[in-house]
Amino acid sequence: MTAGERLGCGPGRLGRLARMRVGILTGGGDCPGLNAVIRAVVRRLDDDGWEAVGIRAGWRGLVEGLFMSLGLRDVSGILPRGGTIVGTSRTNPYKLEGGPERVLEHFAEQRLEALVAIGGEDTLGVAARLYREQEFPVVGVPKTIDNDLNATDYTFGFDTAVSIATEAVDRLHTTAESHNRVMVVEVMGRHTGWIAVQSGIAGGADVILIPEQPITIEDACAIIENRHRDGKDFSIVVVAEGYELTYASGEQRVVAAEASPLDEFGHIRFGGVGDALAREIEERTGFETRVTVLGHVQRGGTPTARDRVLATRFGLKAAELVLAGQFGRMAALHGDAIVDVSLDEATTELKTVPPAWYETAKAFFG
Ligand code: F6P
Repeated sequence: MTAGERLGCGPGRLGRLARMRVGILTGGGDCPGLNAVIRAVVRRLDDDGWEAVGIRAGWRGLVEGLFMSLGLRDVSGILPRGGTIVGTSRTNPYKLEGGPERVLEHFAEQRLEALVAIGGEDTLGVAARLYREQEFPVVGVPKTIDNDLNATDYTFGFDTAVSIATEAVDRLHTTAESHNRVMVVEVMGRHTGWIAVQSGIAGGADVILIPEQPITIEDACAIIENRHRDGKDFSIVVVAEGYELTYASGEQRVVAAEASPLDEFGHIRFGGVGDALAREIEERTGFETRVTVLGHVQRGGTPTARDRVLATRFGLKAAELVLAGQFGRMAALHGDAIVDVSLDEATTELKTVPPAWYETAKAFFG
């Protein structure tokens, strides 16, 4: 018996002539490359006679029954498009009364045989639990600009975010230099500093502050002061939004958007560390300091070629997993190879920036 038949749908009930149906959803923050994955899944499964159904707004679409057609025509031309044509949300079915049951009901009503869930740790955490507890026929695709998903070397969307942040650092260099200022650039990344470290290295930042290796404000200011003593009149500081203001006294302070409620996955909304850091730097060093918060610019727009290729390869792998009936798995990048890993392995812990990466960044501080 197939997974779909166990859930009360599929060819057992419909007869052999019905096309097999796959649902596709995108959850969490949007990310460049989502449409490239959708296109690859739809096209590969269409080759084997499958029909795809778009589930609107992430898990909310399965809870509320929001669907759209996803035929070859619908996915034509979407490869370079940012965002997601099926929409997204941060809905967690496990936080809603009867949420998981409604997911199963709508899945069965739509006569779906399989689901491709494209998301980060939250979206795929739900997928992992549904698979574990209900044998739900789901495969995952690792998405996030933060690159913090475990069991894959890279997620798609990250390269685009790093490219955008790098371009910003490049642009800030010329204005910083002209005005003899310190420029603080706040980048996204939630609890990890992947975007900060890689855009900081690529852009030649003078100090990079990340949550995993929190150097103190005093040390950061000393690096800037030394640099200025050595004849440089400007400095570029890249700070990850999740960096906690850390002082030599041992005190640490998380800066988050004021009065922001936790989302359904228990996350605070970051924002503001750049401002707080800039104030500290200006007060302590006396150097005029300005802040740029890149925000959602890092998530918008067209994916880089690298992200398009990675997203396409992930999409093909997800389709192959569906065809092979290998559920509870996620497409992943190991070195240059696309492999599959268990959803549990991917979602039980975050992939943080290893010390060796930060050492590389530090080699160019000051
Ligand atoms: O996880 C992606 C991400 O862009 C984080 O880097 C950031 O903290 C968060 O999403 C922002 O979420 P929202 O779009 O809900 O403000």
